[in-house]
Parts: sequence; structure tokens; C-alpha cells
Amino acid sequence: MTGGCGYIGSHTIVDLIEAGHDVVCLDGLINASDTVLQGIMDITGREIENHRVDLTDKAAVHAFFQSAGSIDGIIHFAALKAVGESVQKPLLYFHNNVTGMINLLDAAVACDVKLFVFSSSCTVYGSPETLPVGESAPFQKAQSPYGRTKQIGEGLLEVVSNLSGLRCISLRYFNPAGAHPSARIGESPINPALNLVPIITETAYGLRNELKVFGDDYETRDGTCIRDYIHVCDLARAHTMAVEYLTAHPDLRLDVFNLGTGHGVSVLEALSAFESANQLKVPFSIAPRRPGDVAAIYAENGKAAKVLNWEVKFTMEDIMKTAWAWEQVRRN
Ligand code: WQD
Repeated sequence: MTGGCGYIGSHTIVDLIEAGHDVVCLDGLINASDTVLQGIMDITGREIENHRVDLTDKAAVHAFFQSAGSIDGIIHFAALKAVGESVQKPLLYFHNNVTGMINLLDAAVACDVKLFVFSSSCTVYGSPETLPVGESAPFQKAQSPYGRTKQIGEGLLEVVSNLSGLRCISLRYFNPAGAHPSARIGESPINPALNLVPIITETAYGLRNELKVFGDDYETRDGTCIRDYIHVCDLARAHTMAVEYLTAHPDLRLDVFNLGTGHGVSVLEALSAFESANQLKVPFSIAPRRPGDVAAIYAENGKAAKVLNWEVKFTMEDIMKTAWAWEQVRRN
């Protein structure tokens, strides 16, 4: 697994271990710390070692795979993922997300790895023409360099799965949020939080004076952007299911699944969900729109439910309670 010390990667390591799988973790630690491995140990009792490999270093990636012995499959999380930041630093995002993936695929094919699960994103849809958005919806123009890197990533899998024995599933996340119920792991980026839910919890904790709501003049029910917030543990489960599905279907070459709840929630609704779940008030003000944001996107998630037997178990209240519990543990 690449990016195993990251937010979704760490939660997926827990799920894979609990499902009986062995996991090897690669993380260049550019936006994560390997202290998360202690949290994984606390939850699972398993000691996971991180191999510090920068995927943009082709020789290092190949050296790792040549020394790693047999690898059944790769789950590729390692990427920079902040939509707003990608607008400010496009070349950093293309280098890290695209060059890194090319190096990884090159090594995977050279070492005859069979399975590949890709951390893709609903941002591949751009600003969808119809909602909820299903897997067959065409890619509109990516609204951010981040979304463009994910469109390119899926394109790489289409080509590589045709030319090699690598069999691939792309998982298109909507908005991951929340933390493991144990509060032993959660979202803990090295760089300042850029996503809505951690910014809400940091504001609630007093680390920020207020939440800035980026625009209240969108064509939505309350003027603020609508997203589909999915608990990180529901996402983690889907990765284990995707690996097991690929293993059980040797003829499957390429497939994609949306991972969202199917419900759209506005920024102001998410804020009030946090406040009522935790009985707290969070100060906020309306700020200008953020470049790269789409007005509304939420998932048609029936395919993952039907094909992977995946079900969404965590609610918005669970997201906000676990996110807040983690913020308090993390800061203490
Ligand atoms: C959500 C909404 C902001 C911060 C994320 C991931 C991306 C991808 C898609 C997986 C937007 C608003 C935010 C703030 C705000 N997921 N907001 N004030 O941009 O939808 O992208 O989901 O791949 O990786 O980053 O998430 O949490 O940044 O923003 O008003 O301080 O909250 O404008 O409408 P986004 P986000």
C-alpha cells in the first residue's frame, strides 16, 4: 500500500488487518507522519513498518519492489489531495500525483504484480450535468489540477490494464471525513488542514478564530456548496472489498466504483450537524468563493452496494462525533 501513513491509508490498513490480510506500507511522509503506525498497533495489535519511498524517485520505487518479495496487490493512496491547494500549486500536484503513479505502475508491471486499487475521486466528474452522479457519467472538464491528476490516473489504468496483466479498480471517493471510533487514528496531516471537517474541528478546538464559509451565493438550497461526506471507515472497508473482489474475479481487468453516501449536504448543514452532534457552537463568517470548487456533487452509489456488497454504516452524526473526538485526542 502506498500512502499507508495517510488518512485513508491508515484506516484501510486497520480494515485489511482485521480482515486477515498482510500489509506492507510505503509512505514518503511528505504529508503524513509514521507516528500513525502506533495508533494502528493500538487498534490491531499488529506492528506495521513504513518503507519511506518517494514515488517520484523511479529508482527507489523499482528498488523497493525488487527487494520486497511477492506482492499480491497494490492499493495506491499516495497523492496530494487538497482541491484548493492544487489550484495554487498545479505543477507540484502533477509531479507528485502523476509522475509518482507512472513510476509505481512501471515497477508493478515489471514485478508482475496482479492487482491494483486506485484512490480516485469524484473530482474526475468535474461539475456533473446531472445529480446524483453515477460511474457512467462522462468526465467533464476537471475544475482543479487535483481533479485532473485523478482523471489522468484513471486513464493510466485503462492503458496499463490493457497492455499488462495488471487488473485494476478505481474507487472514486466523495468527501472522506471522520475518524476511527477508537480515536487512536484520524486525519492528521503535517500541512495545515484544508478540508472542511478538520477545519471545523480545529475551529471548535480554538485553533482558528472562525470557520470561513467559501461562498453562499451558489445555486444550491442555502447558497453554500453541496458535498457527499462519507466516513473514512466506510471508505476503508470498500478497499478491502475491492481487493477481495479483484482476487475472486480473475477475468476482471478494469472497473470503477463511486464511494459516497448518495446524500448531498451543504457547508452550512455540515456545520450544524457538527454543532448538534457535539453540542457546540462554531463561529463562522461568509468568505469569497474558493477557486476550484464545484457547486454541488453527490454520489449515485448503487453499483458498489450491488457489486461489492458495500454498505454505508456510519452516519453524518458519526462523522462529526468521531472527528471531534479525534481532534481532542490529537491535540492533547
Ligand atoms: C468541502 C466544501 C469548500 C474549507 C475533497 C477532497 C478531495 C476529494 C473531494 C477525495 C467546499 C467548503 C472548505 C473551509 C469552506 N476527495 N469549505 N471552508 O474541495 O470537496 O474536496 O473531496 O479524493 O480530495 O479534498 O473538500 O473539505 O476542501 O471542501 O467553506 O475552510 O467545504 O468550499 O465547498 P472538497 P473540502
